[in-house]
Amino acid sequence: MTRILLLEDTLEIREMLKLKLESRQFQVDEAASIDEAVKKIELNSYDIFILDMMLPDGNSIKLFDMYSDRLKGKSIIITGNPSIPTVVEAIKKGAVNYLEKPVSNEMLFAQVTKIMEMNRLVEEHQNFKNEVVSNFTFGKIVYRSNQMERMIERAKILSGTDNIVLIQGETGTGKEVFAQAIHNHSLRNQEIFLPVNCASIPGELFESELFGFEKGAFSGATTDYRGRFLQANRGTLFLDEIGELPLHIQAKLLRVLDEQVIYRLKSEKGQKIDIRLIASTNKNLENEVKLKNFRSDLFYRLKESMIILPPLRERIEDILPLTHHYIGLFNTLYGKAIEGISKEVEYYFLNATWPGNVRELKNFIKGVLPFTKNNIIEMDDLSYSAIRQEKTGEDRILTYEEYKKNYIIKVLQITDFNISRAAKLLSMSRPSLYRKIKEFNIKKEGPGSID
Ligand SMILES: Nc1ncnc2c1ncn2[C@@H]1O[C@H](COP(=O)(O)OP(=O)(O)OP(=O)(O)O)[C@@H](O)[C@H]1O
Ligand SMILES: [Mg+2]
Repeated sequence: MTRILLLEDTLEIREMLKLKLESRQFQVDEAASIDEAVKKIELNSYDIFILDMMLPDGNSIKLFDMYSDRLKGKSIIITGNPSIPTVVEAIKKGAVNYLEKPVSNEMLFAQVTKIMEMNRLVEEHQNFKNEVVSNFTFGKIVYRSNQMERMIERAKILSGTDNIVLIQGETGTGKEVFAQAIHNHSLRNQEIFLPVNCASIPGELFESELFGFEKGAFSGATTDYRGRFLQANRGTLFLDEIGELPLHIQAKLLRVLDEQVIYRLKSEKGQKIDIRLIASTNKNLENEVKLKNFRSDLFYRLKESMIILPPLRERIEDILPLTHHYIGLFNTLYGKAIEGISKEVEYYFLNATWPGNVRELKNFIKGVLPFTKNNIIEMDDLSYSAIRQEKTGEDRILTYEEYKKNYIIKVLQITDFNISRAAKLLSMSRPSLYRKIKEFNIKKEGPGSID
């Protein structure tokens, strides 16, 4: 059962919150002062802390100083008066968020649920680190989520067959690593794995590039060219971004797949081939079929064995294992000995949208590692990287400028547009804050104007 410590001096508020939480099956311990809270924390272990800021015997910041490890990533501040310096200080010291009184049920449960989910992932990750990592790899694929587990199971079975495989997923989700892993575990693993990126072949060259030509087939064809299919003979041909194939080549490909015979350009003589095809796409081919950009008969042929790789934001269980995997990899590259990431960075990574998926996470770590000052990557180290992401309604990456703008707006809102207080919190002078307000065109909503 999830155990919560509720620190609040006003009896009515405390009782009301306790009732709300108990109605959702949480176990709630109460404290009405810092002193009482200290006693409880010393004796028990809590999953979540809900803390009022100002208590009769002092300020909750004291608890963050005393029990930093226990409170970090597990605390929600409730405050009647978001007296900004202390709230911001608490957030800096590891509180997850703050809620303004009167606390709405919905907001409170949303925050509590979020902390529970994060705690679960962080704990699972701890266990994962202690397990034999090789249990969770297939080729070079690192994963932990159930969604990926299912896809790996499919991939393992498919590597024992000669089926055509179609791998669909957003950019950076690991389509090529999957294709390679299937090949490496297949009976053809002593033969070639040949990736061909269909997006990089100019339209008029597809045919000769894929199927080859004989000397003299066209002016300039001074020698024979075997073409990709023949080059991949007996091995695996990986047609990357197959959605980019022109329609007339799609027809030819279908014929090759049906007959396992290729016809070189201008040649009547067919040549028997033996290849295994793996194709990938970041498009939804079913839609492309509807739009008449992709032949339905080829699509049905390809989709006999599909692997769909979910975006990273839909399998957050994989984020921390991948992070550690890449820290290890880039430690070697940079001659560093970074051990991991701080709790704050863990939460930050788990919340990011990662539009570039695993590739983006990998590059992010690669970019941050050289700037990491201590043996753990801290939030401060991240500010060197050009972009930070936050979950936004629009589900897209924020530029660093936008991030700064949002941060300034947030601070202005909490200080009720009190420029002196906001400037102090932002560690800026008043004139430079005024300049930023003008530059970003920030307007105060509601009555009054910016002083
Ligand atoms: N599960 C994973 N474990 C380890 N590395 C991964 C994983 N998924 C992706 N990567 C790494 O992320 C990068 C991108 O992967 P990959 O090239 O396979 O993506 P993709 O889906 O083919 O992307 P694109 O559509 O842009 O070609 C590679 O460096 C790959 O090694
Ligand atoms: Mg790729």
